Amino acid sequence: MYIVQIASECAPVIKAGGLGDVVYGLSRELENKGHCVELILPMYDCMRYDHIWGLHDAYRDLWVPWYGGRIHCSVYCGWVHGRVCFFIEPHSEDNFFHRGCYYGCNDDNMRFAFFSKAALQFLQQSNKCPDIIHCHDWQTGLIPVMLYEIYKYNGMEFQRVCYTIHNFKHQGTCGNEVLEATGLNRPEYYYQYDKLQDNFNPFALNMMKAGIVYSNAVTTVSPHHAWEAEHTDISCGLGHTLYLHRDKFQGVLNGIDFEFWNPKVDKYIPFNYACEDFEQKQYNKKALRERLKLSDSDKPLIAYIGRLDAQKGVHLVHHAIYHALERGAQFVLLGAATEPSINSWFVHEQSFLAENPDVHIELGFNEELSHLIYAGADMIVVPSNYEPCGLTQIIGLKYGTVPIVRGVGGLVNTVFDWDYDQMHSKETRNGFVFFDLDNYALESAMGRAIDLYNINPDLFCQLAIQGMEYDYSWNHPGDKYIEIYDSIRHQWE
Ligand code: ADP
Ligand code: GLC
Repeated sequence: MYIVQIASECAPVIKAGGLGDVVYGLSRELENKGHCVELILPMYDCMRYDHIWGLHDAYRDLWVPWYGGRIHCSVYCGWVHGRVCFFIEPHSEDNFFHRGCYYGCNDDNMRFAFFSKAALQFLQQSNKCPDIIHCHDWQTGLIPVMLYEIYKYNGMEFQRVCYTIHNFKHQGTCGNEVLEATGLNRPEYYYQYDKLQDNFNPFALNMMKAGIVYSNAVTTVSPHHAWEAEHTDISCGLGHTLYLHRDKFQGVLNGIDFEFWNPKVDKYIPFNYACEDFEQKQYNKKALRERLKLSDSDKPLIAYIGRLDAQKGVHLVHHAIYHALERGAQFVLLGAATEPSINSWFVHEQSFLAENPDVHIELGFNEELSHLIYAGADMIVVPSNYEPCGLTQIIGLKYGTVPIVRGVGGLVNTVFDWDYDQMHSKETRNGFVFFDLDNYALESAMGRAIDLYNINPDLFCQLAIQGMEYDYSWNHPGDKYIEIYDSIRHQWE
């Protein structure tokens, strides 16, 4: 099959979070399974150009219809660790992707509506005829709408669209301007409940809803989150839309790329290891302590890696630092906050704890350091408020770093409590799970993990190794997506 992935991120060249990992990892797996995959991405000024090989100007004359006129774009092509990627660069005064950031601009809706339009225009103008277009998150939600309402009549009638929702929190609610700009010329038609109209605000449109309504298959990133999305308010108003489209909606658990995230071959860590020589992990712990100037001791080391925001249970993350110290453990935090108040809170904690030899707070995004933390820590805490899938617990498992997680979303599908899980035998349990969104629940799970580490280190190692043995690679999810693509490929409306 010929598959085109269209997304706003692809690791490691454009990565704000797990979306980038997924777009890269799934693409590589599909290629390994014999399919032809190409990616279409925005050409951001701030992306990691050092991860692109052979970047060249592939298509100079892309003219994208926009507000009744046309915007001239160049399309560059390059290889991102073996994947063929096309980067779209508009030449317009808006400078859509020259903002020094991926997201967070006032005109994000227009930036990504433009990107979506340009991606389709590129496919059409360059005569590319993929069997499947796979789009991701709200940024690309208009693609199936434009495909079936505009491009289908311009010769692109064969493409089928799979749409994956990574985070219901950001839906791209917008107004008429997006319709006007993209050429979706019938506002009265799109402002209907069964079309693009926002479920909360009848005077707004919703790009994520557009993706759900118009795509041939819709997925989210874990089975439990698919259930939550349909049955709780976690999908922020889209539950009923998902219910109406339930026949084409399902959860597919993400994988991680076992070439990039694998302690056996990881180039960012000083001591490679696997289950057979698990004791090598200790040397990474030592290296991590040295690098972060933490004291050397027999204390357990607990980590948090991730965005610092409400989704991630930021108050519990904060509490975890102090509880770890109280329980005689060390704590390393690597995270970035986009919200200024959260950022200043952690900047304050950083200076307050600066002299403490048992804690390190690193603010910002640091891919290389994240690998050393996964390899060097004993436990990783993921106390999310909600979590569609979550990759840090999966990476933690692969690195023998025992996850302590809140039982929501994909965390439920990946971590099985050492003491209490009823569905898994003791030999296949892999972490600690708590449920209530409060300090006591977190403390009790952290306490059980720290006690096991201190009182029965052999059993703790066994638990860590059990986690490493799980196959959370892209192998199974890759097959699942191929099955989905196959099921929609010959489907006619
Ligand atoms: P989300 O996509 O919601 O941010 P995930 O758990 O799915 O969360 O994925 C997070 C990804 O981003 C992981 O690969 C994690 O290692 C990485 N990551 C998050 N924060 C940082 C950071 N500050 N520095 C380096 N990597 C980070
Ligand atoms: C989102 C979710 C996260 C998921 C990631 C990749 O950002 O917050 O839970 O793992 O996408 O699908």
